[in-house]
Amino acid sequence: MLDNLGDLERTHSCGALRTDHVGKTVTLMGWVARRRDFGELTFIDMRDRDGITQVVCNSEDAPAAHAKAKEARGEYVIAVTGKVLLRDEASRNSKLPTGDVEVRAAEVLMLNDARTLPFQLDAPTDSLASEDLRLKYRYLDLRRPQLQANLRLRHRVLREIRSYMDEQGFTELETPILIKSTPEGARDYIVPSRIQPGKFFALPQSPQLFKQLCMIAGLDRYFQIARCFRDEDLRADRQPEFTQLDVEMSFATLDQIYSITEGLFARVFKLIRVELALPFPRFTYAEAMKRWGSDKPDLRIAGMELQDLSSALEGTDFAPYASALAAGGEVKGLVVRGGASISRKTLDELQEFAKRYGATGLAWIKLGDETTSSLLKALGTDGVARLAAAAQAEKGDAVLVVAGKSKTVAASLGALRNEVARREKLIPANVYAPLWVTEFPMFEYHEEDDRYYAMHHPFTSPVDEDLTLLERAVDGGETALLGQIRTKAYDPVINGVELASGSIRIHRRDVQRLVFKALGMTTEEARSRFGFFLDALEFGTPPHGGIAPGIERLLMVLVPTENIRDVMAFPKTASATDLMIDAPGEVDAKQLEELHLQVVKE
Ligand code: AMO
Repeated sequence: MLDNLGDLERTHSCGALRTDHVGKTVTLMGWVARRRDFGELTFIDMRDRDGITQVVCNSEDAPAAHAKAKEARGEYVIAVTGKVLLRDEASRNSKLPTGDVEVRAAEVLMLNDARTLPFQLDAPTDSLASEDLRLKYRYLDLRRPQLQANLRLRHRVLREIRSYMDEQGFTELETPILIKSTPEGARDYIVPSRIQPGKFFALPQSPQLFKQLCMIAGLDRYFQIARCFRDEDLRADRQPEFTQLDVEMSFATLDQIYSITEGLFARVFKLIRVELALPFPRFTYAEAMKRWGSDKPDLRIAGMELQDLSSALEGTDFAPYASALAAGGEVKGLVVRGGASISRKTLDELQEFAKRYGATGLAWIKLGDETTSSLLKALGTDGVARLAAAAQAEKGDAVLVVAGKSKTVAASLGALRNEVARREKLIPANVYAPLWVTEFPMFEYHEEDDRYYAMHHPFTSPVDEDLTLLERAVDGGETALLGQIRTKAYDPVINGVELASGSIRIHRRDVQRLVFKALGMTTEEARSRFGFFLDALEFGTPPHGGIAPGIERLLMVLVPTENIRDVMAFPKTASATDLMIDAPGEVDAKQLEELHLQVVKE
């Protein structure tokens, strides 16, 4: 039999009671996390979002309450009224904040029952039920204290962001969700229009153009906690639907944007009692790629910078290296301090790992008591010694070597740097290593379709000195120069995670037109896609710039967790589905007809 709540009010949460409360009569409400039965005595661990309190029901003192407690099962919802008692010395639980006290139940109300759960809530983190099962019953998984804590932290982060942005003079506003496609490099989610047959809205990949229009509108400093939608290949740190803190400011210098962003991160990290050292060091993209093979290097890993080995290979007749160098490529090495003890099996696994990033192979040198190397046959003892010296390796170290195009060498060694550091436990805990990566290239050449794409987005301003390169490339036909243009784009990175992206924007219509042209857009195409924006650029656009930190990425570093789903309430799977509500789903024929749509099944 279930009881009514009636007008009974909760006096404390299940995480609140301490020794000060001893002697008080309290009412708690929550879920039965665990029940233990000892005949005359029944213990219930009662849980709510704040914590767990032990309740004792004694058949002598309160027979009715004891009978109710005996009926209760896991996840039943109960209300308990009783006196707070000090636990005796032996039964105190130092792991629980409420562990010095317990509530002696005088009355128990059974507010609701529950079916046996499809999985155990208090399983240790490494033996949780499958993620798919937990996502199907997300509302149950969310009862786990860890996820509750993550969502509370998310709330506190957003609250802190709002007050900081307000203090800095930013106005929060909302831009529309039903818009026309804005390019951020992913596919759009589209929404058919019922009223205008054959026409579609796109959901924003980001509010990029709207925030620029806010600057043209004279709003000066804008921010938005913005939902973004991207139909792209998902990874552990990406969701099809995610949240950005979207920021834009007028008349801003790079230094102003850096310092406002650093101030924001410093404020937010204080929530986890971490003082970030300001200002963050700055490295250009070119320098970051050269030293760490990555535009988001993890600077918690000491050293392990990539070493150029080409000078030690001058005149080599070892074909893979000779041909890589002759084709303008590179041979680079990564020194693992103390790595001479890495096993052959691990080296084989690292080779497979490097291949995923395009490396054709991974050579190695181990400077143990003897020097061993996969290159001994090809380069001889002297050649291997020269290579190890060029890498600045010392006795006891290992050197991992990759040859090929600069891009592949950087990608594979950059990824290996993280992988080796993770395996060899070279990443210190509780350290936060922020940096700015600046001056990203404007365009990226894609071999597949032999054309250039915007590396950030097409509204990013080139650095002043490189504007002439853009003019020469577009108007003078020197297309190859596109690859050399640097931009006023910047990413803040912490512990190897790209937390945000931003740039100073193009505010001149002549420059914006050049960029569209460089991207292969005809004047007509540019007008049909971005006519409204090109028009707006003609009415007195102030110089402006901005940034957009990803809220989930930020929380992933703060928690910390490698799984983006741990920091959102209702995430989607890696195949962009919601297992709980079973979306995407089919719609009925009438709905399709109203939308003037037909589904063609392959
Ligand atoms: P960008 O596309 O780099 O820039 O996105 C900015 C930040 O948003 C986060 N992010 C994501 N988080 C979760 N899932 C995703 N699929 C995802 N994609 C991006 C990252 C990233 O750094 N309009 C520009 C910003 C600007 O120039 O102001 C933009 O959206 O943390």
